[in-house]
Order: sequence, then C-alpha cells, then structure tokens
Amino acid sequence: MQTSWLSAVILGLLVSGTQFAPAQTGALAPTPPMGWSTWNHFHHDISDALVRKQADALVASGMRDAGYVYVHIDGGWQGYRDSAGVLHPNSSFPDMKALGDYIHSKGLKFGMYSGPGPQSCAGAPASYGFEAQDAKMFASWGVDYLKYDLCSFRILMKQESGGDVAKSDAMMKAAYQKMHEALAATGRPILFSLCQYGWGEVWEWGAQVGGSMWRTSGDISDTYDSMSLNGFGEAGLAAFAGPGHWNDPDFLEVGNSGMTADEQRTHMSLWAILAAPLIAGNDLTAMSDTTKSILLNKEVIAVDQDPLGREGDRASKTGPLEVWSKPLAGDAMAVALFNRTTDATHITLRLKEVGWQGSAAARDLWSHQDLGVLSGEKVFTVPAHGVVLLRLSRSR
Ligand code: GAL
Repeated sequence: MQTSWLSAVILGLLVSGTQFAPAQTGALAPTPPMGWSTWNHFHHDISDALVRKQADALVASGMRDAGYVYVHIDGGWQGYRDSAGVLHPNSSFPDMKALGDYIHSKGLKFGMYSGPGPQSCAGAPASYGFEAQDAKMFASWGVDYLKYDLCSFRILMKQESGGDVAKSDAMMKAAYQKMHEALAATGRPILFSLCQYGWGEVWEWGAQVGGSMWRTSGDISDTYDSMSLNGFGEAGLAAFAGPGHWNDPDFLEVGNSGMTADEQRTHMSLWAILAAPLIAGNDLTAMSDTTKSILLNKEVIAVDQDPLGREGDRASKTGPLEVWSKPLAGDAMAVALFNRTTDATHITLRLKEVGWQGSAAARDLWSHQDLGVLSGEKVFTVPAHGVVLLRLSRSR
C-alpha cells in the first residue's frame, strides 16, 4: 500500500511537472455534501423538465432548507462529441446553461456527471482526452459539483498496466488528478466527487487528488442487504474522513420502494453516523409522510452535519447486533444500536463500551423524546432490521 501510494505521488509529480495540487476541498465541503441525484430512482430516464420538477420539490418539501442543496444529474444527459471536441447533451437537455440558471435561481447548486474514460458506463462519451475542454464547459454552465465515474477507464488501466496493480492504481490516481487540475484551472469552485467503487483504497489518497468525497463501495441498490453492505462495510474507515473530505457509501435509497420504514431509518441513521454525504435518490414529487419524516429528521441530519466532522465507527458487535458511536461537538456523542436480525430484539447500551465516562443525558432521535439520565447500562428494544439512535450529552 505504502509503495503504491508513493508511486502515485511520484507519478503525480511527473504528470503535473509540479507538486500535487493541494486538495482545495475544505471550503467546498466543511460538512458532508447534501442534495438529490437523478440516479437511484430515475436512472437514464431523465430530462430537463424532470430535473426542474425535482428542484421545485426540493424547495417545496423543505428539503433545501434542511440542507439538501445539490441537484445532481447523473448518467443519461450526454449526447455526442462533435468534431471540435465539444460534448453535447442529448435532446432531453436542450440547454444546460439555462437548466443550471434555473437550479441556481431556486437557491440550489448544480451537479454533473462524467468520467475519466472514453465512455461512461452506459457507452456515452466521457472526458478522456477532453478534460480541460469539458471542465471549462461545465464551469460555463454553472456546475458546482462533478461526480467522476471510472467506468471505461478500467479497460485502459487493464490494457496499459499489463496486470501490474501498482501501475494500474497510479494510472487511476493520475486520471483523477488530471480532472481535478482541469476543474481548478476554470477558477470556478467545483466539488469533485470520486466514483471508482473504493478501488485502490481510495480513502488513502482521494483528498490528495482533489476529492471532497469518494465512493467506498460498489453501487447501492434498493434493498436492506445492499444498503447494509455499503454502510456497515465502512467500519474502520473513520480516520480517513473529516471536514473537506468524506467517505461516500453512495446515494440514499430512502423513499424508494425496496425497504421497510425501519430499514430506511437504519439507512438514514447509519449514513448520519458515518458522516456520509446525504444525497437523496427518490422521487421528490411523490413522497409519503414516512419518507419525509426520515429525510427531514433534523435531529438525525444534525448528527450527519455535526461541525466536529468526525465519522463514527463500530464500538461493539455481538453477532448481528451492533453498537456504533460518533463523537459530536460540545462533548456529546451519537450512539446507534442496530439490529440486523429479522426479529425485534433487545440490545444493551453500555456507556463505557462507547467510551462515555460518567452519566449521560440521552435523547431518542427517532421518537424525539428525552430519555432522562443514563448511567452504566440500559436495555433497548430494537425492531427487526431497525435502529435506536440516541444523542448523549453531559448531564447536569
Ligand atoms: C455507475 C455508478 C453509479 C451511476 C451509474 C450510471 O458506475 O457507480 O453511481 O453513476 O454508473 O451509469
């Protein structure tokens, strides 16, 4: 690992002829980015009109005011690249600059999607060889966020590295560094989101190639198992996240149809404990009260967005029963008791186990109730695939 990281630095020096550009990310993402993306619900079935309606709903639902400010267009917008190298949107997006202006007029920010390969995962043109030109165009459209998806660059890595992992990793890092520099050269602050499924332990170098966030895993899908794999799979990575640079277990599936309400509360709680970007992935124009109560739970959002910027981690695991904790500003702590079984069960919170000394004032962040002062331990009933999420603070 050490060796591949070093070779990436050396390659970076060679590629840029200068030092690695510093990760100019702190100001763009002091807390985990929040917003909405087209991908999880609409996939490639997207258009200018759809994005405008979702932006309207982001405002009308109160989500913008709760912090969800990015409107992100994922794959499905690209058309063709012309002989002058200009990448044109497809006919569903007649005027990207106008769409960006519309998004900005709502007090929202504009997110885009491309990748370092010649083609996107769906075979549309991506930015390989046109990084500077695409970055300039994105900046001219008013783009504030770019998700950069590895996709077909994997083929080049395989071909050119001849199976040498260090070489292949170095190519990947250099490709992200290249787009980071192209974005920086536009002069427009554009949040850079790395999407390469956690390859090459990206958490160790993502910030050095300008990333404000990086995917730690493969694609999420709308099931408890997929969500669990991505979320619980981040155990042990807390040290790599912090203000300006975040581990990303992927967009939210809250409000889609594949998980029970308890499973969705687990999803939201886990992402908050992980200080993960909260990018909703549902149809915002058709949200049930349950969906709204989950996405708009301000006490849970506050855990995610806590100014200390510390990612939480697993404190204990007894088979499928897990206790996670996240340090919060003001000498407070969030604690989540996760029941990964399919029956309701009891989980014991032991304050010492989460590193809490003395007694604690506890608040339940889903029932919105103060639970009084806890000391030592307390047994909680946790629903099937569910969670109890608490905020502990100093008792007076
Ligand atoms: C995948 C990526 C997804 C989504 C999709 C679009 O590679 O991980 O998040 O962007 O491509 O085709």
